[in-house]
Amino acid sequence: MQKLLIEGGHTLEGTVSISGAKNSAVALIPAAILADSAVVIDNLPVISDVDLLAELLREIGGDVDLGNQTMTIHPEKMVAMPLPNGRVKKLRASYYLMGAMLGKFKKAVIGLPGGCNLGPRPIDQHIKGFEALGAQVTNEQGAIYLRANELRGAKIYLDVVSVGATINIMLAAVRAKGRTIIENAAKEPEIIDVATLLTSMGAKIKGAGTNVIRIDGVDHLQGCRHSIIPDRIEAGTYMIMAAAMGRRVHIDNVIPTHLESVTAKLREMGTTVEEYDDQLIISGLDAKKGVDIKTLVYPGFPTDLQQPFTSLLTSAEGTSIVTDTIYDARFKHVDELRRMGASVKVEGRSSIVNGKSSLQGAKVKASDLRAGAALVIAGLMAEGITEVSGLEHIDRGYEHLETKLTRLGAKVWREELTEEELEQVKQS
Ligand code: EPU
Repeated sequence: MQKLLIEGGHTLEGTVSISGAKNSAVALIPAAILADSAVVIDNLPVISDVDLLAELLREIGGDVDLGNQTMTIHPEKMVAMPLPNGRVKKLRASYYLMGAMLGKFKKAVIGLPGGCNLGPRPIDQHIKGFEALGAQVTNEQGAIYLRANELRGAKIYLDVVSVGATINIMLAAVRAKGRTIIENAAKEPEIIDVATLLTSMGAKIKGAGTNVIRIDGVDHLQGCRHSIIPDRIEAGTYMIMAAAMGRRVHIDNVIPTHLESVTAKLREMGTTVEEYDDQLIISGLDAKKGVDIKTLVYPGFPTDLQQPFTSLLTSAEGTSIVTDTIYDARFKHVDELRRMGASVKVEGRSSIVNGKSSLQGAKVKASDLRAGAALVIAGLMAEGITEVSGLEHIDRGYEHLETKLTRLGAKVWREELTEEELEQVKQS
């Protein structure tokens, strides 16, 4: 097991290129199950969630060829193999196997992912959608059993705007009989990306990216080739890093409109953000003003950048309030930031940041993916060396983090945990 070491205080300069979107990839790979011939997915991020999904598709009989940023999935020999345990439990997004396998085989058994560090993450809206389409859904010993004689289109109103439920219902509905309408659907760019892949496969979907999606079921879907959109959360993470420590950092391969809420907040703080077709240039380092942040569904400020932004706010003047309206327990990074000298406290579903703190390097632990990103940002700003453990979370979602940061001039490297540190990890 490894840890990440960061020597803080170095200015970032140069170019970073953004990888394909994790939260698209984890839905697009299961979507390939629905096809009757090979699906090729390009611009895949090199992250552990993608490796896990490739293995899961192999477990159900798929022939999967995973190259550098490209995956070819042959679904012809896939079967409705139950996946109650094992890898499926390690990956939150394995819930997309439910919609895809139900859509293709009219049955599936998928284990529920274990506890989550963002607090409870129910899937009641996914299940409501599957049931409306005609599936029987039961929860038996931590696995969801889905079965339908036939799936029939239905009108489904989501009580909570949910990215996962919107995508999962689309996956189950594309091969159902008749029309499905999803109302109060989520509008995230990743939903449009999944709809684009499904449409290339022959599905009939209208309205993805708005809050009403109409799907007319088809009998068969064929293979196709699809290139994933850039990861707006990875891009946002580098924007925040550049605002914290950057002198003209070029962020390439982005869709700037996906990041408008982040751009607006950085400008409010005093950061210069230049926008071009597929590039952003960020100049940070100047005096920063504190700002309040409230996470909202897209196109609001993304919950996935709330933790990284909090690290940046520790270096801004004044008091900033960060409120997460999506996940009320996404604050595990706060204790770790305090260890580094930040003045932050949690009140209800907000963290209150009193700037401007001089952070000091410390030994800290990433409890989840975006908490990990927050600690890396704090490490870049801190005096001395920061050691971040819990790297398995960061590796789930950030491709070649230390290579990209090193190219920008950061001093970042990995080391094996000592025996003593390994023992502490086992006990925690
Ligand atoms: N919710 C329900 N019932 C449901 C589904 C969701 O109450 O059936 C609630 C959730 O508890 C949450 C809110 O609705 O409070 C929104 O959850 P959503 O379903 O939109 O989240 P998700 O699909 O499980 C995806 C991303 C998350 C990201 C959220 C919000 C993937 C694999 N995950 O999760 O990404 O935070 O949308 O944008 O796409 C990350 O990348 O670090 C990450 C956690």
